[in-house]
Amino acid sequence: MDHFLYRDGVLHAEDVPVPGIAAEVGTPFYCYSTATLERHYSLFVEALGGLNCLICYAVKANSNLAVLRTLARLGSGADVVSEGEFRRALAAGIPGERIIFSGVGKTRRELQFALENNVRQINVESEPELHLLNEVALAMGVVAPMSMRVNPDVDAKTHEKISTGKAENKFGIAYEDAPRLYRVAADMAGIDVLGIDMHIGSQLTDLAPYEQAYVLMRDLVERLEADGIPIPRLDLGGGLGVPYTRDNQPPPLPFDYGAMVRRVFAGMEDREFEIEPGRLIAANSGILVASTVYVKENAGRRFLILDAAMNDLIRPALYDAWHDIEPVIEAEASAPKTTFDVVGPICESGDTFAKQRPMPNISQNDLVFFRSAGAYGAVMASEYNTRPPAPEVIVSGDRFAIARPRLTYDDILAKDVIPDWLGEAGPSED
Ligand code: LLP
Repeated sequence: MDHFLYRDGVLHAEDVPVPGIAAEVGTPFYCYSTATLERHYSLFVEALGGLNCLICYAVKANSNLAVLRTLARLGSGADVVSEGEFRRALAAGIPGERIIFSGVGKTRRELQFALENNVRQINVESEPELHLLNEVALAMGVVAPMSMRVNPDVDAKTHEKISTGKAENKFGIAYEDAPRLYRVAADMAGIDVLGIDMHIGSQLTDLAPYEQAYVLMRDLVERLEADGIPIPRLDLGGGLGVPYTRDNQPPPLPFDYGAMVRRVFAGMEDREFEIEPGRLIAANSGILVASTVYVKENAGRRFLILDAAMNDLIRPALYDAWHDIEPVIEAEASAPKTTFDVVGPICESGDTFAKQRPMPNISQNDLVFFRSAGAYGAVMASEYNTRPPAPEVIVSGDRFAIARPRLTYDDILAKDVIPDWLGEAGPSED
């Protein structure tokens, strides 16, 4: 459920009419709903109620400080994958004690930054990283709280570009290798072995691969503990999918996920659990609003050319992802449908949001919006074609605020530096 509903035929974000935001901010823009963010967070709290579980929101899904602060106020922790994300989480008020640091390529500087900021845990993903972490911790005179990300070689049955738990993926430590490495870690003076972590992919629509991975996690914890290495923390990763369209069977709910977790880990309730959901919290908490620049007919196809482009929302171009696209002014239920190719103005055919999409008729200057754009939308934006990325707005009840303004062209041009040796414009006289 989200809070983007039509009222008297006009799309509202909570209690704010979307055309009013468009008039003030211009298009395209992202719009986030506080109430939806809060609701999705609370679904996980309820689903895992009774377990000692910290929800560590995956910052990569949407790292706007207003979004992070909204979640921080609910007590959320954070899962971060770079020093930049770590700094965002801290700036939003999430203390280091609630921040997990994941990722395959953490640098010495990043490890040191995490330790300086009392990181809750570092999820180590390779043997060389384990050695570097030990070295950095010893040099700083601290002991690093460590969890090991183990790759269970399970097929998450999701898009190949967002699958992470197969042996062929770059993530984690091979399952067979984990016992040896835990032993190495347990003997290191700079490492405190705390946990185990698995994250097998994103947009999972089936609980079976999770269950397969968690059973393997459970078995490994039992083996390690039998070998005298206690594992008090279980990090279950993120990845629960969201409904990108109402036409398909909806993915399992957090409630179903929670029930499966309880079943698999029955008898291990004395542990600390952690989960790292990103998409489920943010995706349906956000929309991308755009205007129609032209409606163009070409060789029998009808193109809806928007002022949003793949630089604003790259998911359709990158993963062939589906986003529902609807008019901001509701069409009559009986209105006839037209088939559109919905595209942006960028100079490549990949800048296509939807092909042959049946939609109610839409005219030049009409507002449309993309649903489920709150996760992996704004965070993946770029300035390709020197387009200022869509600004971000957050709504709470009947208020809205700009959470990231639109860059001006001067802002963009000011980032580049022309070296002195190129001199003034015009042909060189050398
Ligand atoms: N934990 C780790 C270690 C991750 O790598 C990820 C996502 C998450 C948690 C959160 O997963 P979520 O709950 O959001 O599925 N850009 C792609 C998604 C990439 C996901 C990367 N890792 C997309 O737009 O679909």
